[in-house]
Amino acid sequence: MSGHSNYEPKTGIERWLDTRLPIVRLAYDSIIDFPTPKNLNYWWTFGGILAVCLGIQLVTGIILAMHYVPHVDHAFASVEHIMRDVNYGWLIRYMHSNGASMFFIAVYIHMFRGLYYGSYKAPREVLWILGCVIYLLMMATGFLGYVLPWGQMSFHGAVVITNLFGALPLVGEAITTWLWGGFAVDNPTLNRFFSLHYLLPFMIAGVVGLHIWALHVPGNNNPAGVNVKSKEDTVPFHPYYTVKDGFAITVFLLMFASFVFYNPNALGHPDNYIPANPLVTPSHIVPEWYYLPFYAILRAVPDKLGGVLMMFGSIGLLFVLPWLDTSKVRSMRYRPTARMYFLIFVLTCLVLGYCGGQLPDDHVIPGLSTFMLLDADLNSFVWLSRIATLYYFAYFLIVLPVLGLTETPLPQPESISEPVLSHPANAPAGAAASPEKRG
Ligand code: HEM
Repeated sequence: MSGHSNYEPKTGIERWLDTRLPIVRLAYDSIIDFPTPKNLNYWWTFGGILAVCLGIQLVTGIILAMHYVPHVDHAFASVEHIMRDVNYGWLIRYMHSNGASMFFIAVYIHMFRGLYYGSYKAPREVLWILGCVIYLLMMATGFLGYVLPWGQMSFHGAVVITNLFGALPLVGEAITTWLWGGFAVDNPTLNRFFSLHYLLPFMIAGVVGLHIWALHVPGNNNPAGVNVKSKEDTVPFHPYYTVKDGFAITVFLLMFASFVFYNPNALGHPDNYIPANPLVTPSHIVPEWYYLPFYAILRAVPDKLGGVLMMFGSIGLLFVLPWLDTSKVRSMRYRPTARMYFLIFVLTCLVLGYCGGQLPDDHVIPGLSTFMLLDADLNSFVWLSRIATLYYFAYFLIVLPVLGLTETPLPQPESISEPVLSHPANAPAGAAASPEKRG
């Protein structure tokens, strides 16, 4: 996409096309010949896995839309019709619903990989920000899609989330009415949610195109976090990474298939098999698992507006991350202190996710009140969420800015090749004594 091209059209038709629309050249330069660091590990296969997830969601979604009816009187029944009467409708629907979860598993791994190896740092800030835009669009798409089956959790989830906008001063009520298309979540809401749920994945596909473009200008980061210095540091994308990505995609699809075929409802909520009833509120309204950490942040703050702002702020921070982390060293391989804080951060996100799925008032953590000298009111999961929320924000606003200036990183290798070539296993024959020879 940028720089020198080694593409040589072979046939007459390729030469003809190349002088008019060099699309084969573009494909050759970006997925065949693209110089890729030779030390990429399996964490780097998730970009490809995500592209496959997006493809699966688009194809299965388009087929579902052929049979789905976006009307409050028919939506639930049309989904049951897909499950029972449409040829392989059950498969398409389970692929789509579980596909959303698989998409989020992959995107979280992809993002934490970026956080660990400092892939958001210069010169990849735009690449990272485009990723954040994709993530926001994914969250919106997932939420809109979950409303479509018009089950109990669809309906009441939509009520809770759309009502959040009502917390905004002055404009809140107007925004909520505008989102609903009326004065409650009803048919106009379902209609517009369907329309947007169809639109957004194509916008995601467009931003993914920009994401890959922004990747191909500076090239990949890598586990060592040091820049590519010479041709020796890279290998062509094909066949090295087409094969590696292909293997990872196959393993990922096996895991995906195990959900679709053996446990298709494990990640969903049983209440969504009850048709929506505005008069009966489920005892516990929970979002899909991938929103739980943010749901926990929302509920951790006693004030509604404060909670909404903290929740959106927790995602907003990701956009400015490249300027919050002051360290010159990219990879946490060479930042032992930062690595420790990072591990606590990952744990914090898991704790937030766990807390987000709990009823806020029911649970008591035995012994915590005595241990923390808190009164009985303070020892529920809300408090755990509060501590985790504090750490979440402190990680971005205090730990990363301060550590970069104060820590002493380990010495970085001169090049990508150096740690590979200096490893005893790669020493020239005879140079590294085998265990037998050593004796
Ligand atoms: C539909 C969703 C997405 C797709 C299809 C996608 C695709 C890709 C691909 C193919 C790569 C190159 C291979 C790799 O590094 O794994 C990549 C790299 C990258 N992506 Fe994404 N991505 C998506 C979402 C995101 C999100 C949500 C973020 C962050 C918020 C993100 C941040 C990055 C970064 C920083 C890199 C550079 C990695 C490096 O070279 O170290 N991506 N993406």
